[in-house]
Amino acid sequence: MTPPVSADVLPAEEKITVTINGVKYNVPTTFSEVSLATYVRRHLHLTGTKLMCREGGCGICTVHVAHPDASGQIVQRSINSCLCPILSCDGWEVTTVEGIGSQEKPHPVQQALTDHYGTQCGFCTPGWIMTMYSLLQNSSGRSLTKQQIENNMDGNYCRCTGYRPILDAFKTFAQDGVNANAAVCDLEDVGSKTCKTTGGPCHGKCADFRAGSPYVAALAMEAAMIAPPWYKPTTLDELYKKAEELAGKNVYYVVGHTGKGVYNDYPYDAYVDLKGIAALSGVTKTDKVLTIAANTPLTDVISTFNQTASTSGFKYLTTLAAIISKTAHTSVRNAGSWAGNLALKNQHHDFPSDTYTAFTMAGTQLMIGPENKLYSMEDFLTFDLKGKFILQAHFPTYSDDYVFRTYKIMPRATNAHALVEAGFRAKLDKGQQGQVVITERPALIFANINDEFVHAKATEDFLTGKNIADPQLLKGALTTLQNEVQPKEDPAEASVEYRRSLAVSLFYKFALELVGDLADARYKTAVGSLVRPVSSGSQSFETKQENWPITQAIPKLESMVQCTGEAKYISDIETEGILRAAFVLTTQANASIYRLDATAAMALPGVLRVITASDVPGKNVIGTPGRTPIMGEEILATTQSYYAGQPVAIVVAVSREMAEEGAKLVKVEYFNVQTPILTCLDAINSNSFHETKMKDINVGDAEVAVKNAAVSVEGSFEMGAQQHFHTETMVTVCYPTEDGMNVEAGTQFIDGTQSAIAQACGLGKNKINVTVKRNGGGFGAKGSRINIVAAAVGIAAFVMKRPVKMHQSLWDNFKLIGRRLPYLIKYKAGTDAAGKLAGIVLDVYGDCGYQPSASVIVNGLPNWIDNIYFSPAWKVRLHACKTNTPPNTHCRAPGSTEGIYMTEYVLQHLAYASGKNPVDLKRQNFLKNGDNLLEGATIKDCNIGPLTEQLMSSASYNDRAVAVDQFNKDNRWRKRGISVVPMRFAVHWRNGNYNCLVAIFHEGGTIAVTHGGIELGQGINTKVVQVIAYELGVEMSRIQVQPTMAITNANARGTYGSISTELVCLSAIECCRQLNDRLKPVKDANPNVKWEDLIETCYKQGIDLSARTWTNPKPEEPLVYNTYCAMCTEVEVDILTGESHVLRLDCLYDCGESISPYIDIGQVEGGTIMGLGYYMTEEVRFHPKTGQNLTFGTWKYKPPFAKDIPIDFRVALLKNAPNPSGVLRSKRNDSFHLTLMYIVELVVVFQYVVAPLVMQEPPLCATASVVFALRQAIQASRTEAGKNDWFPNDVPMTVERVQQYAQTQLADLVYKP
Ligand SMILES: Cc1cc2nc3c(=O)[nH]c(=O)nc-3n(C[C@H](O)[C@H](O)[C@H](O)COP(=O)(O)OP(=O)(O)OC[C@H]3O[C@@H](n4cnc5c(N)ncnc54)[C@H](O)[C@@H]3O)c2cc1C
Ligand code: FES
Ligand code: FES
Repeated sequence: MTPPVSADVLPAEEKITVTINGVKYNVPTTFSEVSLATYVRRHLHLTGTKLMCREGGCGICTVHVAHPDASGQIVQRSINSCLCPILSCDGWEVTTVEGIGSQEKPHPVQQALTDHYGTQCGFCTPGWIMTMYSLLQNSSGRSLTKQQIENNMDGNYCRCTGYRPILDAFKTFAQDGVNANAAVCDLEDVGSKTCKTTGGPCHGKCADFRAGSPYVAALAMEAAMIAPPWYKPTTLDELYKKAEELAGKNVYYVVGHTGKGVYNDYPYDAYVDLKGIAALSGVTKTDKVLTIAANTPLTDVISTFNQTASTSGFKYLTTLAAIISKTAHTSVRNAGSWAGNLALKNQHHDFPSDTYTAFTMAGTQLMIGPENKLYSMEDFLTFDLKGKFILQAHFPTYSDDYVFRTYKIMPRATNAHALVEAGFRAKLDKGQQGQVVITERPALIFANINDEFVHAKATEDFLTGKNIADPQLLKGALTTLQNEVQPKEDPAEASVEYRRSLAVSLFYKFALELVGDLADARYKTAVGSLVRPVSSGSQSFETKQENWPITQAIPKLESMVQCTGEAKYISDIETEGILRAAFVLTTQANASIYRLDATAAMALPGVLRVITASDVPGKNVIGTPGRTPIMGEEILATTQSYYAGQPVAIVVAVSREMAEEGAKLVKVEYFNVQTPILTCLDAINSNSFHETKMKDINVGDAEVAVKNAAVSVEGSFEMGAQQHFHTETMVTVCYPTEDGMNVEAGTQFIDGTQSAIAQACGLGKNKINVTVKRNGGGFGAKGSRINIVAAAVGIAAFVMKRPVKMHQSLWDNFKLIGRRLPYLIKYKAGTDAAGKLAGIVLDVYGDCGYQPSASVIVNGLPNWIDNIYFSPAWKVRLHACKTNTPPNTHCRAPGSTEGIYMTEYVLQHLAYASGKNPVDLKRQNFLKNGDNLLEGATIKDCNIGPLTEQLMSSASYNDRAVAVDQFNKDNRWRKRGISVVPMRFAVHWRNGNYNCLVAIFHEGGTIAVTHGGIELGQGINTKVVQVIAYELGVEMSRIQVQPTMAITNANARGTYGSISTELVCLSAIECCRQLNDRLKPVKDANPNVKWEDLIETCYKQGIDLSARTWTNPKPEEPLVYNTYCAMCTEVEVDILTGESHVLRLDCLYDCGESISPYIDIGQVEGGTIMGLGYYMTEEVRFHPKTGQNLTFGTWKYKPPFAKDIPIDFRVALLKNAPNPSGVLRSKRNDSFHLTLMYIVELVVVFQYVVAPLVMQEPPLCATASVVFALRQAIQASRTEAGKNDWFPNDVPMTVERVQQYAQTQLADLVYKP
């Protein structure tokens, strides 16, 4: 640590001054490439602000800033600190999560999120807190509505919670909400007062002392050496002079610096901050022109448009405001300027700029300096902007006979660029009855067609002076448009067919709007876009006070420290002296590696070493013999690049940025390049399969049964992959010690990670001490795939003899780490005439990637495939496809999600073929107790019938199904669908070995526990504490969970498969039983003794106050029990675009009696939203030639955000589970060891007391219901177009697929039937 840089040391032009959490810092201009996020995290050690994407796409790094605008008014905004250079914050007040409250004295926002159990892994939490805090600060006492709050939450990502609790927590600050916190807005009369301590704007409360930082870590010397200069001109003349000086250099003219999140044209020779130039700020208006200066952030552009729209001639600006409100998200719009956006478009013509579409539609003119000449938007695009600057935008007036409309079609509701975007302007003459004449050349602007395409010129020509109400003219216009829209083929983009038909559909919507009532009422509803109201949710569960804290609804124990930023993650380790590592990844799949050239990397200052396979001290192999088949996967590739993204070397440097930059500079050359095999279909065509011991499953003669069935179907479909997209990317820190290695690893499986490092370093496992406090999510990826990162860091630390950290970039995480397996399924099935299943034949192809390890998931499919249906005959053939993609792996509900969907799909087809409502066919074929399951066990606990009936009744399914039909009759282009999916989730306890150690300390009787589960956000720590408190009869506050370590959790299983929490709780119960037995004699002698005194007495008597257990369940059958769930989902689809809303989702989940209902509801909601992502928006694409992942990062991969969740989201945990009290008593028997008998008893305990622990996976499986609801909506449209045949569908049902499956033809686009 070095002391802070004193203001006296540097001249003014070599430093900036920024106040962070009330403390002033002088930052030298050598920090030109340091972001605000990195500054607070690494240099101030304020690690509450987290980092994930570093491209503005996740909101995890959000902080609040306050600074004066051009007029001296204080502006209060949330921004993404990952994109904001620290030097950009000159004169700013920055508030991070540490600056608003602490666990002792939380801010009301922190308290609200805790109270609404809105955190799970907690890694995203500080970003949410600061987004909401900032909104409150910015609202300065104005009333906020629920809608405003929900709108503001458009840029924060959360993989765990499902968003609903976060939104509920924040809506307590709304005047129209359950307004527990609404008054806070009034209290925090910010902006108008001055802080007595700092002299800056008042933040409403003073910063906690700890939020400041007495020391500042220095910038690495090498980084300072190569830092590009930072200039801050204050006038245009100074700017022009500086631009002349820098002519020919790669200069970044910084306003919001958000452009870096879109295009990184690194390296830069210089940065020039434009924010000090007053002439580039401000808004002026005359009767004829509205002028907005270049630096104006998009947020202010929107408010200016909305305010100006009420004045004559500017009404159309609301249309512009609407589309710019869809640009990026609030924090990007707060920082990013319109001119920066247009400059990006000028530099990258393929950029689908909303500003460009909107401004072009509006006929805006741009003033460009130094010449101060006005340019049209069209001319601007081909204009060479080098050495020139956008100064102003001029917006003209339009009379009321103009109609404007914009459309932005996105893969999800917010924070996405357009698949296709349109801006339309037309001047109309409606003077003659039945006629709507376009009197002057209209503007038909489209984005994301191809690099040159802006105006649909031929169609504009065609329409000029014509009557658009004429059906023949409409047909002609649509045909002309269809012919002239020629989208560029790009494997990373939506298909050419979709983009072309979308452009045509959007114009058709505009035409319907222009003709108004001349169109049929059923068609007119296509005008505009789906409008989403404020969402709401309800949660229903049961609690038994007599059993508290078991069944008590409490927030997660760690919730508050997550909300205050005090929770520490492995990626937060910023100790000085730690070296940083990054992988060099291959860029070509299926090729031989010719050579590596690290010369350029080694020449980069700060790069210390490039480690290749020959440097590995132990074995260059991941996985150990005897484990699941992870044979021969090299840590660092030697001769062959099996997939693009495979690690081939490790670059070690003094900083993360230098390691990553160095990694990009290592050249990898290839030869013998073969076309990669990237899909199951490719694998089938190339006969590329892993050798496995998988066996076919045959029950009866399914082939014959199907052949003889009264109703039979046959087909095939595909299921996509899913990225885990945990918020804390793969991270490990290794510290070499005198006797081995201390490791902090983001692993879900300590034993596996310990093995991986030991093997790679050639050390015994006893020398590798792995510790895990918590992970920022995992979802299965950190079970085995973390090991390649952990082993690499182990190698680097071993080689360098220094501590090394690798916190993978999100991009590398996408490229290197496998994902949920994609599948291709071929099927045949049949029923008898009444609808009873006769037989099902499935050929299942699972894409394991280039390694066979994921074949265990394919092999496990029969555990799930029959779901809750009985078929007398089955034939299931399983195939493990070998492709040139990373080894795929477990991903939340692996195998169960896909297996259950497969049969649901087949039943859907059978229902279609037999003309039945799918839910009736399903109910007809439900399993009964005594039936044999496909996995071989006999079902004994089936309650799916009553549970489904209960769901259908509480969801009013029958009435709503009728309403859906009526809606579909009333609307041609909006269609609805409703579907019910019932499901069974089999719980297996195979290899369920976990440790638990409970220690009671004398002198106060506090208790510490360390257990074998890893806290990933699922709430395992909270449940364990609830169980221990219950078992020992003490308050929860006495109990502290300590990190999991290799020594205390030796040889144990990983945390996955949904069984860890329950088995760890079993283990904790046994520890408590041992302890209670030992305490009993002392307690019996003095029944009223206080806990502390009891413990002190025992201590004095030499009683062992620690207990350790090891679960080793060996139930007679692998299947221990089943949990059941049913989900009903209703959707509305815009058939012309493929966009949809989940109108309502009801989930009824049987989890016995929930130990911790808030946590369990959170798991249900989180699993459901991850399922909706899997089935609707998350799509993985590869480049067909290189095999590179094209959907890496936040720009291309689209998990749901807060506005994608069901508008009405109802979750109920099934009530009236069997009374547990008797079973609890029976648990206290005499055994000291977990015998088989005892385990069997505890099985009973868990079924009726704490069985609810399998939470996160089943609801995810049930979200398949959304697919069938979407199908119904699509089918309704197809039927109207005369297409009554069954149509196969693949998942995910993206907006593209939904629109394409509807197969709307140009001939269908009419005004009247
Ligand atoms: C996560 C994310 C999502 C986004 N989503 C969308 C989206 O959906 N739709 C969309 O249209 N955009 C989107 N954007 C782009 C965003 O709108 C732009 O990044 C932003 O408007 C740029 O403004 P800025 O002030 O930050 O520019 P900066 O990043 O500061 O500058 C960007 C470029 O403009 C140049 N420049 C800046 N000012 C001038 C000037 N006056 N004259 C000449 N050159 C100048 C700079 O040299 C630089 O090359 C997204 C961005 C992010 C990070
Ligand atoms: S880390 Fe800044 S937005 Fe993702
Ligand atoms: S709690 Fe939001 S990502 Fe984990």
